[in-house]
Amino acid sequence: MPAHKNILTYGTFDLFHIGHLRLIQRILKLGDKLIVGVSTDEFNAVKGKKCTMPFEHRADIVGSIKGVDLVIPEQSWEQKIKDIKKFNVDIFVMGDDWKGKFDYLKEYCDVIYLPRTEGISTTKIKKTLSSISPDLKQSLNSVIHQM
Ligand code: CTP
Repeated sequence: MPAHKNILTYGTFDLFHIGHLRLIQRILKLGDKLIVGVSTDEFNAVKGKKCTMPFEHRADIVGSIKGVDLVIPEQSWEQKIKDIKKFNVDIFVMGDDWKGKFDYLKEYCDVIYLPRTEGISTTKIKKTLSSISPDLKQSLNSVIHQM
């Protein structure tokens, strides 16, 4: 049984994939309440990221994963300390592509970077999709946006 700990993580979670699922599953071994901040489309624009799926879809998918208790919008870089205090967060977790970047939060809670799943990322999936025919790409895009 995981310890009684509140955990917080953030991410974009576009084209939800096995690396995202494995991260959430590994996070759940550290504690029993998981809050996920999903980046809004506006915040992604600030980060220079353009999502295939709109915020509402990404948030719905993440919120449906077993063990995720709450999804909150991630709207800025600055909200983390406020969220940690608001949700009584014990552990802040990110994939190790962010290693060291959030050490300043150690003043407020534990900060843990978990290893990423090798060989998969949203960027890689997008690259694969863009290498297929433009017609098929167009139909896939319209299916996603009709849902
Ligand atoms: N993540 C992971 N393993 C992967 C991909 C992502 O553990 N193979 C983790 C990231 O480290 C992050 C969270 O999942 O903590 C959300 O990552 P996100 O940036 O949404 O996914 P990526 O696939 O990395 O997207 P991109 O390629 O656009 O950066």
